[in-house]
Amino acid sequence: MSWQRVRPALGWLGARTWPLISPARPIVDMSYSHHFVDFQGSSIPTFMKKLVVTQLSPDFRKAVTLMPKVAVPVPGDGELLIRNRYVGINASDINFSSGRYDASVKPPFDIGFEGIGEVVALGLSASKNFTVGQPVAYVKSGSFAEYIVVPADIAIPVPLVNPEFLTLLISGTTAYISLKEFGYLSEGKKVLVTAAAGGTGQFAVQLAKNAKCYVVGTCSSEEKAGFLKSIGCDLPINYKSENVASVMKKKIPEGVDVVYESIGGEMFDLSVNCLATKGHLIIIGFISGYQTSSGMLPVKAGALPAMLLRKSASVHGFFLTHYMSKYKEALIALVKLYQSGKLVCEVDHGEQSQEGKFIGLESIFRAVDYMYTGKNIGKIVVELPHLVNSKL
Ligand SMILES: NC(=O)c1ccc[n+]([C@@H]2O[C@H](COP(=O)([O-])OP(=O)(O)OC[C@H]3O[C@@H](n4cnc5c(N)ncnc54)[C@H](OP(=O)(O)O)[C@@H]3O)[C@@H](O)[C@H]2O)c1
Repeated sequence: MSWQRVRPALGWLGARTWPLISPARPIVDMSYSHHFVDFQGSSIPTFMKKLVVTQLSPDFRKAVTLMPKVAVPVPGDGELLIRNRYVGINASDINFSSGRYDASVKPPFDIGFEGIGEVVALGLSASKNFTVGQPVAYVKSGSFAEYIVVPADIAIPVPLVNPEFLTLLISGTTAYISLKEFGYLSEGKKVLVTAAAGGTGQFAVQLAKNAKCYVVGTCSSEEKAGFLKSIGCDLPINYKSENVASVMKKKIPEGVDVVYESIGGEMFDLSVNCLATKGHLIIIGFISGYQTSSGMLPVKAGALPAMLLRKSASVHGFFLTHYMSKYKEALIALVKLYQSGKLVCEVDHGEQSQEGKFIGLESIFRAVDYMYTGKNIGKIVVELPHLVNSKL
């Protein structure tokens, strides 16, 4: 059967979307049969591995079980079956495993927020905009699996299956949208970013620099401070060797206009103290508390009204899920910046971790541990390799 090739259309990230239809390709109908052959001549297996939350706990190893043999899901109409090639680790994976995202959900449930891979099969109406073999990314829970079914209307066509795009899906868009909505950035403003060398912090630093701000970034090692310098951070502060409050008082006595704060506890208090008159603090997270049973470390909340009033300052919470109407615009802008060489998307594959690179679903446990040692530089990404042409 010959291919019916239609002129390629450009997807919203500039990736080619080929509206190709060929009966030789596995456009799935509901009489799905296992062991069909995918676009690389290898088989889509009947079973796969995936991670499942089997017990609520912020201790990822306690909460999550690797299921060695579950059925590969079948895409329905309007859905894609994606073979995951890279999945992202997020600080909130342990909030999810502890049930803090949705108290009504009881185990077992799937976990993992985002992934990138190739379409290996699709339901009929999804073939209008997607084709088998196409690289796609997505944000949807359940990514810690070899295969996942994703509705075509939330799948994002990408030019390549590369881990740099993955860094933008949650980490990049969080920085972009929150700073745009609540940062009011402009030339000469002073910005403090905490966890600045991490997955989302790296983007906050660079976006503030793009807006010609003076950027201070906190981190826990000299290596991270060096990385921060390399992405344009004006004043990296290693909080393990320097007193952040003293450095801030000395270098920016008038205070900062914006704080991108994701640590919580003492760092939150310190950040509120650092605010300039009419300054804005954006609460991105409070990672220092996530491993505790409450999920939080105490802050000087009692003093907050007085501290904010004295400076006419403000504190905004920001949770990406509430800003999905801005998501597409943000991702397009970030991809453009990355493709034009104006944005570094640093990926941490775990080479510096004790047992080396994170490869395979099994290594997700190590990758989460690694994040909570605070050693990562950039976004932690786990690779799920696929042996091309491994015929069953
Ligand atoms: N609001 C949203 O929609 C949204 C979306 C994405 C992420 N976030 C938040 O952004 C923050 C960063 O998340 P991420 O996934 O990008 O992680 P990440 O920054 O890649 O990694 C976490 C970093 O936090 C720092 N850290 C400070 N205290 C820590 C502690 N007690 N335990 C572990 N790490 C600590 C470490 O760097 P240093 O100590 O060297 O600074 C570590 O490398 C989290 O608070 C997360 O919840 C929020």
